[in-house]
Amino acid sequence: MCVLDLRCIGISRLASRKPASPPVFLQCLHEHKTKKVTLLHPISEFEKAHSKAESMSNSILVTGGAGFIGSNFVLQWIENVATPLVNLDLLTYAGNPANLATLEDDSRYRLVRGDICDAEFVAAVLRDNRPRAIVHFAAESHVDRSIADPSDFIRTNVLGTFTLLEQAKLYWSGMDEAARRAFRFLHVSTDEVYGSLGWDEAAFSESTAYAPNSPYAASKAASDHLVRAYFHTYGFPVLTTNCSNNYGPFQFPEKLVPLIILNALERKPLPVYGDGSNVRDWLFVEDHCLAIRTVLERGRVGETYNIGGNSERKNLEVVTSICNLVDEFCPDDGSGPRKDLIKFVADRPGHDRRYAIDAAKISQELGWRPSVEFESGLRKTVAWYLEHRSWVQSVRSGAYMDWIRQNYEERVQP
Ligand code: NAD
Ligand code: TYD
Repeated sequence: MCVLDLRCIGISRLASRKPASPPVFLQCLHEHKTKKVTLLHPISEFEKAHSKAESMSNSILVTGGAGFIGSNFVLQWIENVATPLVNLDLLTYAGNPANLATLEDDSRYRLVRGDICDAEFVAAVLRDNRPRAIVHFAAESHVDRSIADPSDFIRTNVLGTFTLLEQAKLYWSGMDEAARRAFRFLHVSTDEVYGSLGWDEAAFSESTAYAPNSPYAASKAASDHLVRAYFHTYGFPVLTTNCSNNYGPFQFPEKLVPLIILNALERKPLPVYGDGSNVRDWLFVEDHCLAIRTVLERGRVGETYNIGGNSERKNLEVVTSICNLVDEFCPDDGSGPRKDLIKFVADRPGHDRRYAIDAAKISQELGWRPSVEFESGLRKTVAWYLEHRSWVQSVRSGAYMDWIRQNYEERVQP
């Protein structure tokens, strides 16, 4: 692996975004150097044929590849595809280069640290690496943080996506005809742009009207609209995916699934917002990464594809299932079942009631469907967190604990 540090461009802005400190990430390098992530999906025939034709310079550029979904995508890509991959990531609190430490010696992988809001920096990365595609994950992604302070969400998700689009369009315009035709910009988005469903309403399809409710969802909706506009106005070859809630290895423990696993393990209270009846559709992260590769290979330019796990669950069911799994993996020490730790806390303001995805389009057009049942994916995920305690330690910095205090102290009900 090669690490390029272009922090000389826009260094003051980078410093103010609190990237993960080197000592923290070095602590867990050792653990990940020795472990190879097991992937569910073997290399496809298409990728084998396509990969052999690639030259080393004909890379893909991924933004936000050190985050949760990005890390899983990078690992799956390098395991299955010969095309080199450049990872542009600012390494905010959510980005962790240790997730990709197994790629340290892989000459097909390169991490470039920097900000998608920095036009000069993005232009330099494109000029130096000449990617044939961009997969855009980089974002601020946590709804509760967007409620506490939306400003970073507007900056990264709206301004950052705009900056990336603009620089990518300039780069693409300078390509020869054949390269321009083959180029793709895949924008990774969320089902939250569609708003909230009633209990009996049909699942979100690609033609559902946008109705984002949280600052996070609104910032992603804005970015989706910009991506769409670049296709319609300039013919820039975009693809957009809108997926449901991901879960799996490497998820930062501020989101429901890892937070509950770790609290249950440590016998801390398990905070459930409201009455726990809100519904999310759960998508195993490796299934999502395979769907993105499928859309990148075969998706129709300018189209949107919804990606779902076909696993709607109430939050209380998810939390209870995690409790049962942790009880099974770490048998009772006399303290009683973990579900007794469930604590109903003040609800999230504007909490969306239900998300559900109609994934018929990607299934019928591109032949992708989720392969991991929620129960088996959750089992793998709990097992992963139990086996990676030093990773957990390394991501729980002082800033993480400050967030946990801020978010949950206010919620405790009298
Ligand atoms: P994450 O928060 O775990 O990771 C985000 C990554 O982006 C981090 O590595 C971070 O360092 C990087 N980043 C943030 N700001 C940046 C900037 N200005 N410049 C460069 N890099 C920057 O997010 P995730 O959960 O992996 O989500 C990835 C994408 O998928 C996001 O666009 C998110 O909106 C979308 N999505 C996520 C989910 C989910 O369940 N996690 C569901 C639907 C859609
Ligand atoms: P989260 O993982 O934050 O994802 P999202 O808000 O993008 O759906 O939350 C998933 C669901 O779990 C959501 O309905 C809010 C709820 N939740 C809790 O009940 N307790 C918690 O501590 C957290 C973080 C979330």
